Amino acid sequence: MYTQSFSVADSEARAGLKSVTPPPTSEEAALQAHFDAVIDADGKVEPRDWMPEGYRKTLVRQISQHAHSEIVGMLPEGNWISRAPSLKRKAILIAKVQDEGGHGLYLYSAAETLGTSRDQMLAGLHSGKAKYSSIFNYPTLNWADVGVIGWLVDGAAIMNQIPLCRCSYGPYARAMIRVCKEESFHQRQGYEALLVMMQGTAEQKAMVQDAVNRWWWKCLAMFGPPDADSPNSAQGMRWGIKRISNDDLRQKFVDATVPQAEVLGVTLPDPDLKWNEERQHHDYGAIDWDEFWATVNGHGPCNKERLSTRVKAWNDGAWVRDAALAHARKQKERSMKEAA
Ligand SMILES: [Fe+2]
Ligand SMILES: [Fe+2]
Repeated sequence: MYTQSFSVADSEARAGLKSVTPPPTSEEAALQAHFDAVIDADGKVEPRDWMPEGYRKTLVRQISQHAHSEIVGMLPEGNWISRAPSLKRKAILIAKVQDEGGHGLYLYSAAETLGTSRDQMLAGLHSGKAKYSSIFNYPTLNWADVGVIGWLVDGAAIMNQIPLCRCSYGPYARAMIRVCKEESFHQRQGYEALLVMMQGTAEQKAMVQDAVNRWWWKCLAMFGPPDADSPNSAQGMRWGIKRISNDDLRQKFVDATVPQAEVLGVTLPDPDLKWNEERQHHDYGAIDWDEFWATVNGHGPCNKERLSTRVKAWNDGAWVRDAALAHARKQKERSMKEAA
């Protein structure tokens, strides 16, 4: 799904971001000049093209964090597959959770084109070194949470991911086109599930409002720290990786969501939320960044549970990977024998 912490450093020293300074040899200077010209012309950088090390490292970090977010994002909703209230809702939820697994696979593949193996990326996730979107470190307490995740979390993801379809790195941009189409279905199914609940009993309406109250601020934080506290954003913009700043994306999300909340009949839990005629945007209250950073740094309510579930899934799947490799080996031996 998901967005946010892409501007957040993994728990390792961030190296190479200063490599935009011209390299020393004339050959490298020419390569850098060509790369800059491609970026300036809004062209695409492809896997075999020369690229600055900082660009490569930034993309590997961002795409792998994105991939991790997709597969960890399967967990909070996956918990509800066995408890969905009808066959229809169950089928929709299974399809959505499966889509998220697919998004993870496209993204790991896109990151692999930059020279980092999937095993390396997953080792980073499993050791707790690599980050993923913090939104998945919160629990899904009732069925309305599934609807609110679709409406708001996938809605925020779409806002963040549509500009990534124009990312300068070709494989990432192309993966995002299909991902965004699927995210659109995720957002709609969530909103539709909530519309149905809001026509139901007082208890159902209260469940929706409770879920909105718990997720609203966390969704605003998904866009990442304020622009003033995002020192690497400018470099990401220069490289054509990031197209719209965190604060601008957050504002777009707020402006798009307020009318949807009105149609739904829920209140967004922010007393400072109001239309600003002069700015032609909604004003909104202060986000609790201390809570955001505490969760990013491993102290959210579900961080440990999410990570241990992923590690268990990886360990439980070892026999499948071993069997696939053994099969591939046998096939290769057989074809070599036939060719001999
Ligand atoms: Fe999604
Ligand atoms: Fe997704």
